[in-house]
Amino acid sequence: MPSVLITGANRGLGLEFATQYLSDGWRVHAACRQPQSAAKLQRLAKGLAKDKVDRIEILAMDVTDPDSIARAAAGMGDDPIDVLINGAGIMGEPDQKVGNVDYLAWSRILEVNTMGPLRVVEAFIDHLARSERKLVVTITSGMGSLSDNTSGGWIAYRSSKAAVNMVMRSAAIELAPRGISCVLVNPGWVRTDMGGATAPLSPTESVAALRQLIGRLGPAESGKFFHYDGREFPW
Ligand SMILES: NC(=O)c1ccc[n+]([C@@H]2O[C@H](COP(=O)([O-])OP(=O)(O)OC[C@H]3O[C@@H](n4cnc5c(N)ncnc54)[C@H](OP(=O)(O)O)[C@@H]3O)[C@@H](O)[C@H]2O)c1
Repeated sequence: MPSVLITGANRGLGLEFATQYLSDGWRVHAACRQPQSAAKLQRLAKGLAKDKVDRIEILAMDVTDPDSIARAAAGMGDDPIDVLINGAGIMGEPDQKVGNVDYLAWSRILEVNTMGPLRVVEAFIDHLARSERKLVVTITSGMGSLSDNTSGGWIAYRSSKAAVNMVMRSAAIELAPRGISCVLVNPGWVRTDMGGATAPLSPTESVAALRQLIGRLGPAESGKFFHYDGREFPW
């Protein structure tokens, strides 16, 4: 049974990944900051038949807290992880413009969006290496694309995503000898708490398309940046 570890799995895109992979027969390690209040994840687990309850594990993990990541990795023992989805992310307040940047908030955004994904990868390298797929998928954003930025604004969020693109591009090169692939994906603009109610895509649509893409990713695609619809995205 293939397995997936998802960060930020209690809501938004992470929750949708957990839902879809679970119904597709995968073993799902759903990581979130507060499992005890992750009602939607708990409902997902309760909805499983008795002989399938071990198909989901809800883990406590804050991607900015190295101890919580290490505890989650140790708790997983020797289990392989086929696909690691770095979903956790924050956007910050809208007015991130020249002359109005909150530098403390910016460093928090970098902690979560840029350093968080690498911290998680570092802790789970051995779990990935002993799996079949050996794939890290980091959810970045079109807003992290240099060439796509024609409107400015969102300096903290954009820079955190541009930086994680570079982090994962390097990780792709460094982890290739262990057979681990690292890919960046833009989910499109999606109706989540972050994307808001007017976004054109539903989480179901975005994640269904991303899962189709993820299904065909391997070493040949490592270090690349993809749009949710499967096209390569400009850096
Ligand atoms: N929605 C869009 O249109 C869109 C577009 C481009 C890229 N993205 C990216 O897609 C990813 C998922 O976004 P979303 O739309 O699903 O956002 P969301 O609905 O706001 O969910 C964000 C998730 O990240 C978690 N999170 C935040 N800080 C965390 C931390 N320190 N440790 C662990 N988990 C943390 C949240 O957990 P809590 O509930 O505990 O806060 C929540 O589960 C993000 O990386 C985002 O940047 C989204």
